[in-house]
Amino acid sequence: MPVLRRVGERFAAEAPLAGLTVACCLHVTAETASLVRALRAGGAEVALAAANPLSTQDDVAAALAAEDGVEVHATRGTDLAAYAEGIAAVAARAPAVALDDGADLIERLHADGAAEALLGASEETTTGLVRLRALDAAGGLRCAVVAVNEALAERAFNDRYGTGQSTLDGILRATNTLLAGRTLVVLGYGWTGRGVAERARGAGASVVVCEVDPVRALEARMQGFEVMPSLAAAERGDVFVTVTGSRAVLGRAHFERMKDGAILANAGHFDVEIDLAALRELAGGSGREVRPLVEQFDVRGRRLHLLAQGRVVNLAAAEGHPAAVMDLSFALQALVVEALAREPGALAPGVHPVPAAIDREVARLKLEALGVEIDVPTPEQESYRGSWGTSS
Ligand code: ADE
Repeated sequence: MPVLRRVGERFAAEAPLAGLTVACCLHVTAETASLVRALRAGGAEVALAAANPLSTQDDVAAALAAEDGVEVHATRGTDLAAYAEGIAAVAARAPAVALDDGADLIERLHADGAAEALLGASEETTTGLVRLRALDAAGGLRCAVVAVNEALAERAFNDRYGTGQSTLDGILRATNTLLAGRTLVVLGYGWTGRGVAERARGAGASVVVCEVDPVRALEARMQGFEVMPSLAAAERGDVFVTVTGSRAVLGRAHFERMKDGAILANAGHFDVEIDLAALRELAGGSGREVRPLVEQFDVRGRRLHLLAQGRVVNLAAAEGHPAAVMDLSFALQALVVEALAREPGALAPGVHPVPAAIDREVARLKLEALGVEIDVPTPEQESYRGSWGTSS
């Protein structure tokens, strides 16, 4: 993670986070450990809770606790009560900054009356931002939230390449299925859906896209994918991937139409995109584990295979986004924490974009790390771009 390393080295020299407590609710992975170390290099105290009961890499959690002295609340396969306790524990540290992945920590800080005391928070996911904007619209958001998920250096890369690749990685690791010649249905054509669809096509699958937004649906069509309503796609798919940020996008009516052997995977943040209650009801109870992380449900003589209990398949069945792309996300996170620390009170409660200068700096450092050089506009070009009505 060369970009994050550069940021961490500067932090070590300048200590911009000295005395700051940073509470994190993030997937506890090797990449997250690098972020935690960069923040600590800048002088911050860090407390870390898991952002999902199934995503923790236990060796990483143990190393952060033992070698770095970080307060870590994360165990893979933990139950929901322990998951919530971990978030409550890091919220109880009265942090100055919160880094969130799904908005459960920010929600908890609001419940504890600790949100007003934050310099600010950052949110890593689309799902979390949907929740926080709903809270803001209802007049309940009490802190500034920086929408890291919407930074240009994040969206186009993290969601498209990171989730796009790791989602297929999770499906393949869990099932060892062949994608070539199969039909893969992507529900949701945001950045993640785009990434999943492109990569599945590259692996030889026929890709069907289901999308409620007409502009995105049109884009999917123009990219050469079949676009249709989800009930029609239910009959066609061999593999289904939900990446909508919504709930019950695959439900009873879909399960009833699916082919024998269909695979169901979710890569959206919460396990609500596949209606698990409806699946269990239809199958007359829980499924049977036929491989690790693969639960087989018998639905009227057809076998449907649910992966990773409907939780983030890319983190539960694979290792999440590779380091090369988390480098961008976590460099953004680190620079956002620095900006919050250097300018306390600059942001009013509400959801704010990542400053464009931070976006550009992260992209610039990544290009540098990749050894890619780009042109710089000449003074004439700058002045041409900045002037009104010039045609010569
Ligand atoms: N979210 C997706 N992939 C991740 C990773 N490798 N580490 C932390 N959070 C992630």
